[in-house]
Amino acid sequence: MKELIRKLVETFGVAGHEEPIADLICDEIADDVDEIRRDTLGNVIAVRGVQNDGPTIMFSAHMDEIGLVVTHIDENGFLRFSNVGGVNPHRLSDQRVVFANGRMGCIGHERLEKVTDLKMEKMFIDIGCSSADEAEEHVSIGDVASFLRPMNDLGDRLVSKAMDDRIGCAILIQALKEMKDTPNRVVAVFSVQEELGLRGARTAAYQVEPDLGVALDVTGAGDTPKARRLDVSLGDGAAIKVMDRSLMTHPAVKGLMVRLAEENDIPHQMEVLEFGGTDAGAIHLSRTGVPSGCISIPTRYLHGPSEMVDYGDVRACVDLTVAIAGAENLDLRR
Ligand code: CO
Ligand code: ZN
Repeated sequence: MKELIRKLVETFGVAGHEEPIADLICDEIADDVDEIRRDTLGNVIAVRGVQNDGPTIMFSAHMDEIGLVVTHIDENGFLRFSNVGGVNPHRLSDQRVVFANGRMGCIGHERLEKVTDLKMEKMFIDIGCSSADEAEEHVSIGDVASFLRPMNDLGDRLVSKAMDDRIGCAILIQALKEMKDTPNRVVAVFSVQEELGLRGARTAAYQVEPDLGVALDVTGAGDTPKARRLDVSLGDGAAIKVMDRSLMTHPAVKGLMVRLAEENDIPHQMEVLEFGGTDAGAIHLSRTGVPSGCISIPTRYLHGPSEMVDYGDVRACVDLTVAIAGAENLDLRR
């Protein structure tokens, strides 16, 4: 599964520009689903067990990643930029980035009196050109870039850009491969533009009309030196979300996840996140409401170039996803 993760994290797919990662995912799941379609916004929607008459379970992992967008090209060929999704300028200095066409750039900034003066408007991308004309041969206003980082395998731990949320995509793809026959209709959504406000999941949920919604996404970890208080640790298993800023997990869904984890000896921990949201936030508000929850992957250094996950946690998340997909007699009344 590590090679699958590597392919996913190293593929380009900034929010609103998910075509390369969508193509890769469609190739990876082609043999494991009954049908695949792409909707207007670009969501990949794959169905397994189309003929099944059980409830419809929608899993959602977002394909998009955070990035930068070019706002101005100056006379010396330096690119000014803004953020696509939640990007902290203090995580950007000296990073390397790559555009969809493969052009690489590095990030510099103007001279600062003090580090706290580091704002995005004082920063620029240097793509190795010395004039606007030369730069425009490679990059145009509005082009987007992502971090340029390979995945590093530390054995138990994996580090890369875009673990948020390609690790969720990898878990969903792997679960599709491992799923047995199920009475349920399993709909795997690889959503777009989560980082811009859960946009793809909203239109996907409207089409899919699920009876149960489950997001697969990263969450933070509180286990590094003097970290913000968060009772989630790498290596302690799949994190079952209780709440975040987008969702109070439906009690029947939380109960189902805990029961399945216990019955199947899947390592798990409970997650209360005081910030952020996931696709489940959009899914649960679709139509007349959808019982929803989220399987979270504990992740350090979120929204930076070196997001770190634990491989054992990833396995636990695959196992829990497979268990939910195969659950019989789903009863999701409050
Ligand atoms: Co994110
Ligand atoms: Zn995410």
